[in-house]
Amino acid sequence: MCGIVGYIGRAPAAPILLDGLARLEYRGYDSAGLATLNGHGLEIRKSVGRIDQLAALVGREEVHGDLGISHTRWATHGAVTNDNAHPHFDQSGKLAVVHNGVIENYQQLRAELLERGGHTFRSQTDTEILAHTIGQAYDDAGGPPSKARLVEAVRATLARTRGAYGLAIIHADVPEVMIGAKRGSPLAVGLGKGENFLASDPSAFARHTREVVYLKDSDMAVIERGCFDITSLTGPPGRYEVTEVEDPGAAAQKGDFAHFMLKEIFEQPGTVRDAMRGRLSHEEATARLGGLNMTPQELRDVDRVILTACGSACHAGMVGEYILEGLARVPAEVDYAHEFRLRNMPLNKDTLILAISQSGETADTLAALREGIRRGQRVRGICNNVASTIARESGGGVYMHAGPEIGVAATKSFTSQVVILSLLSLLLGRIRHLSVSEGQNILKALEALPDQVERCLELNDQVKRIAEKYAHAEGMLFLGRQHNYPVALEGALKMKEISYINANGAPSGELKHGIIAMIRPEFPTVVIAPDDVVFDKNMNNIEQVKARKGPVIAVATEGATDSLKGIADELIAVPRTLEFLTPILTVIPLQLLAYHTAVTLGCDVDKPRNLAKSVTVE
Ligand code: AGP
Repeated sequence: MCGIVGYIGRAPAAPILLDGLARLEYRGYDSAGLATLNGHGLEIRKSVGRIDQLAALVGREEVHGDLGISHTRWATHGAVTNDNAHPHFDQSGKLAVVHNGVIENYQQLRAELLERGGHTFRSQTDTEILAHTIGQAYDDAGGPPSKARLVEAVRATLARTRGAYGLAIIHADVPEVMIGAKRGSPLAVGLGKGENFLASDPSAFARHTREVVYLKDSDMAVIERGCFDITSLTGPPGRYEVTEVEDPGAAAQKGDFAHFMLKEIFEQPGTVRDAMRGRLSHEEATARLGGLNMTPQELRDVDRVILTACGSACHAGMVGEYILEGLARVPAEVDYAHEFRLRNMPLNKDTLILAISQSGETADTLAALREGIRRGQRVRGICNNVASTIARESGGGVYMHAGPEIGVAATKSFTSQVVILSLLSLLLGRIRHLSVSEGQNILKALEALPDQVERCLELNDQVKRIAEKYAHAEGMLFLGRQHNYPVALEGALKMKEISYINANGAPSGELKHGIIAMIRPEFPTVVIAPDDVVFDKNMNNIEQVKARKGPVIAVATEGATDSLKGIADELIAVPRTLEFLTPILTVIPLQLLAYHTAVTLGCDVDKPRNLAKSVTVE
């Protein structure tokens, strides 16, 4: 999940590269580096740590040149060291490469280079092997330096390469060109006037140009200052389309918030509203999801839904499983994308596969989608990132319209996904057996959600106090049942990934089957216990925890807290809604709990250690 930025034009490249990297830092921040061509050769700067450390290095030792490539790294091969930071170079030191992805046969390529002799490697990365292989092909071609010679060397090398890549390549002897290539990792070309850009994500250059060409797998882009050419390494001559991207603008700024994560938690009244905007049909008491590209009959024929995703998106899918079965009476099953892609699940012609992904670039979810397509299934995406790979490769779907989610921890994307799965369930239910009045009741509850989410955000100070009280806990347990079992998993994931506390989520019913051994005074348990049909069972769990002197933080329903008073150590009450919609409200205090715990512990909330926002490698 690295970030790549390239520039070729008339302006100094370094400031453009650094600004672009800063906008991609969410993709990984172990180390960063850049290389520019200054008319006399390559100028290189690399730094372990964040982009601002690279910027400081560049500030101290100015970098010249109007052509350059740069990279922010999330380590896959090789430790986090300066030598392993990108860019990497060939044997001559004239060819520079930055790479996002994993070259699966890099050991074989490495052995071939060593057998030829004349190659020594400074890093442990697969990328350096790729650079040397391209450089060797360039040298073998012989003749005067030229664009054609470089293009052919890249083409020949990629034909022998297995695995995923998003690449930017420059050569000191060919200062009029920058080459981009894509297979499995996102890469886009930005089209300027007398200048052009390359990046893993157009937000890196959106302030310079909004004209973008998203490269497709096996595409290679040969980019000059005033022109570009895109060809396919495997298929017919490259067909490409120019799209207009939004300038992330304010969305990419924290505004008055201390962190992007807190800003995005507080955006949820609006993003929940936007997930429904234009999709509620009062006259038909149903939802309208035209992007699914499915006829009413095709929707009616759906005999099973497989929801596949990773991380928080998978937790949203797990909530969706309950909702689909409850509202639409359609059998549903969730499978982690990294599992689904490898298992041989029996699928019927009318089994619908839903790939859920905020970024739309998660490698495992993309692989699961492609496996479904390979088997002839109808596959639809639920994505936030318009024109992302998953959105483009699925046969249709539903956009979340949640705006850029910069914080590494998913927050608004989770609630938007649950809203969309509720809309889909309403749609499928109303073309099967749900009555008009049932549909109207559901619409009424959906429309009340944004204000109810707003009221959940008013719990912020209370939750902050609770977080400060338990921030030094040895571990935490999150429990929930039915629709709120996935919320327990989500609350635990939030806590783990930003405060690093060993938090575990489980269905409440599992407490007695082993987990209860962990209960002790230093180990708080969060129990999600809304006023629903399983409230009494959750109460039993709370009493079992209390009997073993474990502190309990209960998330309950306003007006249904009397039996919890005097038992729960902390009582957080969220507004009442339909049972299947409670996850959209109960998750909010858990997001805040994780956030304030991490802040109390001094953790880096927006860029937690070892993580990146979009997992575009397996
Ligand atoms: C959740 O907070 C994490 N950031 C991570 O689990 C994330 O949900 C997962 O990687 C899926 O990302 P996606 O929605 O972009 O596919």
